[in-house]
Amino acid sequence: MRYAISILVFHVALFISLQFIHCYNTHALHLDDDHDGDDQGTDLIEKTCKRTPHYDLCVSSLESNPESSGADLRGLARIMVDLVLSKATETLDYIRSLLKQEPDPELEKSLAYCAELYIPVVKYSLPQAIDALLGGHFGFANYGISDAAKQANACDKNFSKSSTSPLAEKNSLLNDLSEVAAAIISILLKG
Ligand SMILES: *[C@@H]1O[C@H](CO)[C@@H](O)[C@H](O)[C@H]1NC(C)=O
Repeated sequence: MRYAISILVFHVALFISLQFIHCYNTHALHLDDDHDGDDQGTDLIEKTCKRTPHYDLCVSSLESNPESSGADLRGLARIMVDLVLSKATETLDYIRSLLKQEPDPELEKSLAYCAELYIPVVKYSLPQAIDALLGGHFGFANYGISDAAKQANACDKNFSKSSTSPLAEKNSLLNDLSEVAAAIISILLKG
């Protein structure tokens, strides 16, 4: 009887440890699979975005462009700055469309002021930043990008406290995208 019990205990113990080993292996293999499944592009995007102040925005922005998957770090920087430029252009177009129909003269003044701030960003600062990036002048590239963030913030602050900024969301997105682009370029700058 005692012998039968110890055989039983032995089998139960063996069963449990086999389950455990099986589970452990499956888990380990699963992690391994995940790792092997990542292509290099995704690895570089995640690794790079971890070094920016807006990880989720960085990953989603880069992944929305199919060219990101084959890009090196400089390519990712280029994609981000292009995105900053296209968002700034979009925002300027939006400001112009609001200006055409704004009945409140106070708001109209602020919108006109914002257009004045955005025009040189779209025409000069960001195109120059792209040229600088392509030429390997990373410090100068970041100078143009930080100007975009600065003007977006100045635009937003110009709406008086009584009226909330109709551009709040767009200005803040532009600020965050600029910070991501500048952070990626800073990695290039450090070499
Ligand atoms: C908005 O900008 C104009 C032009 O610089 C300035 O005169 C005005 O005081 C600003 N308004 C606010 C609320 O900051």
